[in-house]
Amino acid sequence: MSSHGVIQRYKKYLPITARTPALTLGEGGTPLVRAEALSRELACDVYLKLEGCNPTGSFKDRGMVVAMAKAAESGARAVICASTGNTSASAAAYATRAGLQSVVLIPSGQIARGKLAQAFVYGARILALDGNFDRALELTRELGEAHNLAIVNSINPFRLEGQKTAAFEIVDDLTRAPDILALPVGNAGNITAYWKGFVEYAQVKNSALPKMWGFQAAGAAPLVRGVPVPDPHTIATAIKIGNPASWQGAIRARDESGGLIDAVTDEEIGAAYAFLAAREGVFCEPASAASVAGLLKKQREGKLARGQTIVCVLTGNGLKDPEFALASGFKVETLPATSKALLDALGL
Ligand code: F0G
Repeated sequence: MSSHGVIQRYKKYLPITARTPALTLGEGGTPLVRAEALSRELACDVYLKLEGCNPTGSFKDRGMVVAMAKAAESGARAVICASTGNTSASAAAYATRAGLQSVVLIPSGQIARGKLAQAFVYGARILALDGNFDRALELTRELGEAHNLAIVNSINPFRLEGQKTAAFEIVDDLTRAPDILALPVGNAGNITAYWKGFVEYAQVKNSALPKMWGFQAAGAAPLVRGVPVPDPHTIATAIKIGNPASWQGAIRARDESGGLIDAVTDEEIGAAYAFLAAREGVFCEPASAASVAGLLKKQREGKLARGQTIVCVLTGNGLKDPEFALASGFKVETLPATSKALLDALGL
């Protein structure tokens, strides 16, 4: 069966009109895979929502397809976004698909190479700023409003509409809502969108509501501290954000669900990243591993009851950031091209 994408599949839950173009690159419908090792480790029933399987390798595609279709519908000629990388890759791809020019503002030198390569190849106009993501988003707002460029960051409500479909898929696949949804939090659009999705689906399907557990990087944890962080830092560049645009949405998701937003250190993120690859066979990007790092932390603190059904959202594909993957002591052994040399190397 061909993949029809988020707009076609969830049209009746989205602000789609007869004039909205039927845009798709086959986004959504991502795998929900049981995490066997993590389930044992946490004494819970844990699933991984593999959002890295989307067309540009991150969850952004779900919201981007809707935002871009609406931009095209409204007659926009160009779109603009600020990004820590994934939004720019997604915007560039969907803009091309919709016949629009994309402009992406990125913090210079702080974007994983894979994401930069995507924006470049898809044909975005890439502007690297001598400043952080928060500043790039401020400038995006200024330019977008003044020059009639459609803003496709998650401050665009159509982004959140599209992203909420991941919550629908989880409820459909599990045939119920999980007890806990764990996810990384940066600009806080995704936690806001998931909560919206679970609440809307509860009304339609009579499903229960999960507790929303969001995790920020310790050096970029404004929601945990309760104040913006002027100079955020973390190895997880995707969530290196000091002043999230959807601040209120994240707090509402946390409080209305009886959940929490906590911080995890770069060491904890790195350990969870390695665990997922080596024990589960799942290669996600560092920011995505914050969700698993958070669960492991809560269990160590004795704050994770046994036997719960948990979904961890792995927001982006590990291939986005090959430099991070290879940074910790990767070495290739080069050998003569003979079976003897291979057998000797293997000690057989
Ligand atoms: N995980 C990944 C891989 C991301 O790229 C992002 C955000 C998040 C988590 C956090 O999601 O912002 O909705 O709370 N990336 C944005 C970008 C900021 O520009 O690509 P959020």
